[in-house]
Amino acid sequence: MTERNAGIIGMGHSYPEGILTNADLEKIVETSDEWITSRTGIKQRHKAAEHEYTSMFGTAAAKQALERAGLEPTDVQLIVCATTTPDQIMPSTGALIQAQLGATNAAGMDIFAACSGFLYGLTMVESMIRTRQIEHALVIGAEVLTKYVDYTDRGTCVIFGDGAGAAVLGPVEKGKGILATKIRSDGRYEEQLYAPGGGTKLGTTHETIDEGLHFFKMKGNELFKVAVRSMAEISAEMLAQAGLTVDDVDIVIPHQANQRITDAVASRLGVDETKVYSNIAELGNTSSASIPIAMDECIQSGRIKEGSTVLLTAFGGGVTWGGTVLKF
Ligand code: COA
Repeated sequence: MTERNAGIIGMGHSYPEGILTNADLEKIVETSDEWITSRTGIKQRHKAAEHEYTSMFGTAAAKQALERAGLEPTDVQLIVCATTTPDQIMPSTGALIQAQLGATNAAGMDIFAACSGFLYGLTMVESMIRTRQIEHALVIGAEVLTKYVDYTDRGTCVIFGDGAGAAVLGPVEKGKGILATKIRSDGRYEEQLYAPGGGTKLGTTHETIDEGLHFFKMKGNELFKVAVRSMAEISAEMLAQAGLTVDDVDIVIPHQANQRITDAVASRLGVDETKVYSNIAELGNTSSASIPIAMDECIQSGRIKEGSTVLLTAFGGGVTWGGTVLKF
């Protein structure tokens, strides 16, 4: 069996219309636009309405990605949805998106790797296409994080926003597509970012809900250092594996966690800041959705075009991290 290259052949994104600005947050918790902007770079984030949920945005992004790839929903054999905020515990959001798309030839599943989930999906699907197990797949990052955020905790509620991004993957010509990709985790850092309630350990009881254990809890300061180190190291490793240097990269798209994390990763890598994409001011941290949304914005604006070399890197709760080098 001859192996082949796998790459992204269409992308799309979607987010709720509702917007939560820093001024809105000033009315909810003791914070200020000045603090949020200087510490995170975030000015606003999109927020789902009560009746909106994760698969709606995942499906909208996937439809757009399929259209741009010139494919029908029935042309994909796998739908991988990276999410930490599923519609419900069962079935998977991937299976629900499959139904909403009418992708009747696919298997649908979820990846639970927090903000690194999209790169986990790319890494898994790349090998399945390369080894000819499947022809086409959707990798989606979709989140409604604002429903898991405690709006009395100013350390987390200012960070997160909602949205989805999707990529259609398929075979591409030699020398193109995913050139190097790797994922990692270290569960010893569990408590740096977690939602302890609602699972089999603590259950869902009146007590867990009263204590807010179903909400995200974060040790932002500690996470910051591990995030910068891990993203910079894996990026350098993936560039070396692809036989490239930072000078060969046209654009770096890091997970949009915090502007200061992005700046610190860029500085460690020695990459010119004009090559580093950021949309965190408008969208906040959308976890697994942040990289595919940013990539699609770059494709639509022409910043990523045929021949572009792109470096992706992510870090998230778990902790998890990853790096991917692609040529379009
Ligand atoms: N508004 C005003 N003050 C706030 C605040 C807010 N929204 N959130 C925290 N503070 C306060 C703290 O209570 C603390 O006050 P104190 O000194 O009186 O105790 C002070 O600001 C400093 O808190 P600290 O947590 O040390 O701030 P920081 O500079 O580390 O910034 C984060 C906090 C969350 C912005 C930053 O740590 C961060 O972005 N970390 C990474 C988080 C992340 O990206 N998570 C997702 C990973 S995928």
